[in-house]
Amino acid sequence: MNERDYSVEMHNITKTFPGVRALDDVSFNIRPGEVMALLGENGAGKSTLMKILSGVYTRDRGKIRIFGNEIEGDLTPRKAQALGVSMIHQELNMCAHLTVAENIFLGRELAKGSLLNDREMNRQAKGVLDSLQIDIKPEMVVGALAVSKQQMVEIAKALQAKSRILIMDEPTSALTSVEITQLFTLIKKLRDTGCSIVYISHRLEELQYIVDRVTIMRDGKFITEQPFKDLKLNQIISYMVGREIKEKFPRVPANRGKLALSIRNLKAGRMVKDVSLDLYQGEILGIAGLMGAGRTEMTRALFGVDHKDGGEVEIEGVPVKITCPEDAIAAGLVLVPEDRKRDGLCVKLSVRENIALPNLDIICNAAGVINRTIERTMVEKAIFDLKVKLPTSEVNASSLSGGNQQKVVVGKWLARDSKVVIFDEPTRGIDVAAKVEIYNLMNELKQKGISVMFVSSEMPEILGVSDRILVMCDGRVTGELDRSDATQEKIMEAATRFENKLDDKN
Ligand SMILES: Nc1ncnc2c1ncn2[C@@H]1O[C@H](COP(=O)(O)OP(=O)(O)OP(=O)(O)O)[C@@H](O)[C@H]1O
Ligand SMILES: [Mg+2]
Repeated sequence: MNERDYSVEMHNITKTFPGVRALDDVSFNIRPGEVMALLGENGAGKSTLMKILSGVYTRDRGKIRIFGNEIEGDLTPRKAQALGVSMIHQELNMCAHLTVAENIFLGRELAKGSLLNDREMNRQAKGVLDSLQIDIKPEMVVGALAVSKQQMVEIAKALQAKSRILIMDEPTSALTSVEITQLFTLIKKLRDTGCSIVYISHRLEELQYIVDRVTIMRDGKFITEQPFKDLKLNQIISYMVGREIKEKFPRVPANRGKLALSIRNLKAGRMVKDVSLDLYQGEILGIAGLMGAGRTEMTRALFGVDHKDGGEVEIEGVPVKITCPEDAIAAGLVLVPEDRKRDGLCVKLSVRENIALPNLDIICNAAGVINRTIERTMVEKAIFDLKVKLPTSEVNASSLSGGNQQKVVVGKWLARDSKVVIFDEPTRGIDVAAKVEIYNLMNELKQKGISVMFVSSEMPEILGVSDRILVMCDGRVTGELDRSDATQEKIMEAATRFENKLDDKN
C-alpha cells in the first residue's frame, strides 16, 4: 500500500435519529500514521460519526472504505474490530463488576479447554498496563477504580486489541497532567507504527502536542479539514461555533453577603482528613488541587453520599446533620457530581423526568399529584437557560451528546432555590461555548446571593472565575488565595504541600 492512501474514507454519511439529523452528508478521512483531531461543539455529531465507523450505529446513507475496501451493508462492532477499528468511548463503557483483565479481554476472552484462562489474561493484561506505566492490578474490580483509572483501562483494552485505527473520544477529560503526558507519548508511539488515530477533544490547548490534521464539524455538517499547522486556535473556535467568542471567563460583580456554609474538621474515609472552610453568600469559591487531593470525596461526604467520620457543618449559622443527599437538599445544599453517568443522571429516563425528579417537592401538590404546568415551565426554563440541544424533553437522557447531558445535570438544580451549589468539574467534556454558559450560570447564581463551590482541575478556569480559591492537598486545605493575588505557581505550591507523606501509605 502506498503511504498516501487512506486507511479510512467516509463519504456523504447521513444519520437521522428520531427528530434529529445528527449527520448531514459528512465526509472524513485519515491516513496511516496520522493523528486527526475531530472537533466541534457539543452535539455537532463527532461521537455519532465515529460510532458509525466502529459499527455501533448504522449509517442511513454514505460510503465507507477501510484500507481501500468498500464496506457493503452495515458495519457491526465485530466486523469493525476485525478490520482493526477500536473506539474508546466518551462515556466510559466498562463492566463495573468485572476485573480489569476481564474488561480488557471482553469479547476476546482467552480459554483453556472449556474454561477461561484467567491466569494468562491477567498476565497479558499486566503486560499492557506495564507498557503504559499504569499502576493498576489486573485482578482489581473496575467499579472500585477512579474515573481516571477506568479511562486508562479503556486505553489498555484498545491497545490489547492491536487496533490499526484507534478512535479516542475525549480520552483526557478525566486524566491528570502526568497521565496525559503518558498518553501523548503513547499516541506518538502508536502513530509511528502506522496506526491511524482519531482524537476527539474539547481541550484545544492539547492539540499542538500530537495532532497532524483537524476535521471540524458543526450542527451535523462537515465544515473544514486542514493541516493543524495552518490553523490558529481562534480560527478553530470560529469554525466550531460559527462566531467568535469574546470573553472566555466572564466576571460579574456581586456583594459578598453573610456566612452561608461553614465546615469544621470534616473527616471522611481515607481521602478527607481534616477540612475546614467558610463559604459566603454571593461568592464563587474555587477548590483547586491535584487529582487525589480529596476534593471530590469532600463534596460527596458533605452532600451525604459518603459517610462522615467526624466534623460539623453549619448552613447560615444553623448546625445541620447531613447523613444522606435528601438531608442536604432539604438544607439547601446541592451537588453537581463529577461522574454524570453514574451519579448525575438516570440515563434511562427522559430529560423531563431527570429535571423533575429532584424537584418533586416543588412540582407536586400536597396530595402528591404532579402539576404538569409547573413541571413544563420548570423543564422548559432549564433547557432554555442552558441551551440544551435536543429534539424534545421526552427523549432519553442517554441519547444526548456528552456535553448536553452535563447541562441537564446542572439544569435540574437550577430549578430550585438552593443556598449552596457545589459543582465538581462541571466543564469536563463541554465545548468552549458551553463552558462560558456554565460560568455565566455560576455568576448568575452568585448574583442571586447563592454560594457556589467550584471544584476544578483546570487552573485557567479556577483563576478566571473564582472570587477566592482554596487549595487542597492530601485531604486537607493547604492554602487560601484571594483572586487578586492568585497565580498558577501559588496554587501549585499549595497543591503539593504534603504532610507526613511517609505515614500515610495506606
Ligand atoms: N442514540 C441517539 N438517539 C437519539 N439522538 C441521538 C443519539 N445519539 C446522538 N444523538 C443526537 O445526535 C446529535 C449528535 O450527537 P453526538 O453525540 O454525535 O455529538 P458530539 O459531537 O459527540 O457532542 P459532545 O461534544 O457533546 O460529545 C445530538 O443532537 C444528539 O442528541
Ligand atoms: Mg461526543
